[in-house]
Amino acid sequence: MDTVRVVLFGVGAVGSRIAKFLLEKEGIEIVGAIDIATDKVGKDLGKVLGVKKRLGIMVSDDADAVLSEAEADVMLHTTTSFLRQVYPQIAKALEHGVNVVSTCEELSYPYVIEASLARRLDELARRKGVTVLGTGVNPGFVMDTVPITLTGACQKVNAIKVTRSLDAANRRVPFQKKIGAGLTPQEVKQKLEKKEITAHVGLEQSMHLIASALGWELDEIEVAPVKPVISKERVVSKVEGGVTVEPGQVAGLKQSGWAVKAGKRVISLEMHAYMGAEEYELYTIDGVPPINMKNTPCMHGDLSTVAVIVNSIPKVINAPPGLVTMKDLPIPSATPEHMGKYIKK
Ligand SMILES: NC(=O)c1ccc[n+]([C@@H]2O[C@H](COP(=O)([O-])OP(=O)(O)OC[C@H]3O[C@@H](n4cnc5c(N)ncnc54)[C@H](OP(=O)(O)O)[C@@H]3O)[C@@H](O)[C@H]2O)c1
Repeated sequence: MDTVRVVLFGVGAVGSRIAKFLLEKEGIEIVGAIDIATDKVGKDLGKVLGVKKRLGIMVSDDADAVLSEAEADVMLHTTTSFLRQVYPQIAKALEHGVNVVSTCEELSYPYVIEASLARRLDELARRKGVTVLGTGVNPGFVMDTVPITLTGACQKVNAIKVTRSLDAANRRVPFQKKIGAGLTPQEVKQKLEKKEITAHVGLEQSMHLIASALGWELDEIEVAPVKPVISKERVVSKVEGGVTVEPGQVAGLKQSGWAVKAGKRVISLEMHAYMGAEEYELYTIDGVPPINMKNTPCMHGDLSTVAVIVNSIPKVINAPPGLVTMKDLPIPSATPEHMGKYIKK
């Protein structure tokens, strides 16, 4: 394969960043773009992305038409987090014989929460001879693939703890709003109850991914209620037009979850996302040998999501047909050369 033909399904914040990155890369051609947002449909993709040149690709809300005409190798899918909502979007691409890489968090390990949809996607993908993967920075990389990879150097693993802490003051404005920054604790409580704030989706999937890679049979997985972080000081956004948090207001959220095996917590995940937070990822493996690794600042959500999605393209095209997760694919790696170099079939 000389050039990988890509359809984008979703040209929002992440889809647009993926598209701009693809425009810089050799061996990739964008051949279609699907979205339902009324400010995007019917416009040239170049205009939607805010790049200077026309790309000759009209953003369309007719997925069937785009997928029929595009003769795509892969669809990069970035619409929403929940598999029940995105199932028809992904199934459509598979029916057209197109591989899929999606940022849908629940797709990163769909076998537990959405077992029947996972089975249907797997059957459809196998029938059509294509592969589907859910991934991204988190879930998909920092809190699952990285710790799984670290255990490769352990003879024994007793327990794994990962903390990801990011400073929302550095992140785009919709992200600051998504974590309730600048709201009162009461407002955040109400928004969480009404599910207007969903917080990070994926702790459960990451824990299942790790357990499944290690062959651990878990007693249970618990995810604690989302905890708002109340700011003690004024925190100003480092991004233009962003939120300023006053003392007493919510700066963001903390989430935690743990997996229990034979009565012991064997996986603990902590996710901190608030304005003014220290930035790091901390990996602690209680094993033989023990591993303690800190990455600081933490991996950038948008930059790394774009990277993980695009770098997964050849792994997914090369993979056997069916629904796969990150633990089923070869070790992740960058694709700095012409994309055709990484395609085996
Ligand atoms: N796994 C990871 O690490 C990771 C990382 C980043 C993001 N994500 C997830 O990826 C998803 C996309 O993120 P984002 O920040 O790009 O969101 P976003 O800015 O809201 O973009 C999503 C785009 O998809 C469109 N869309 C929604 N439903 C659609 C449908 N049925 N058909 C066609 N287009 C549709 C939206 O249109 P409207 O605006 O009209 O709804 C919007 O233009 C989110 O669920 C996010 O949580 C995952």
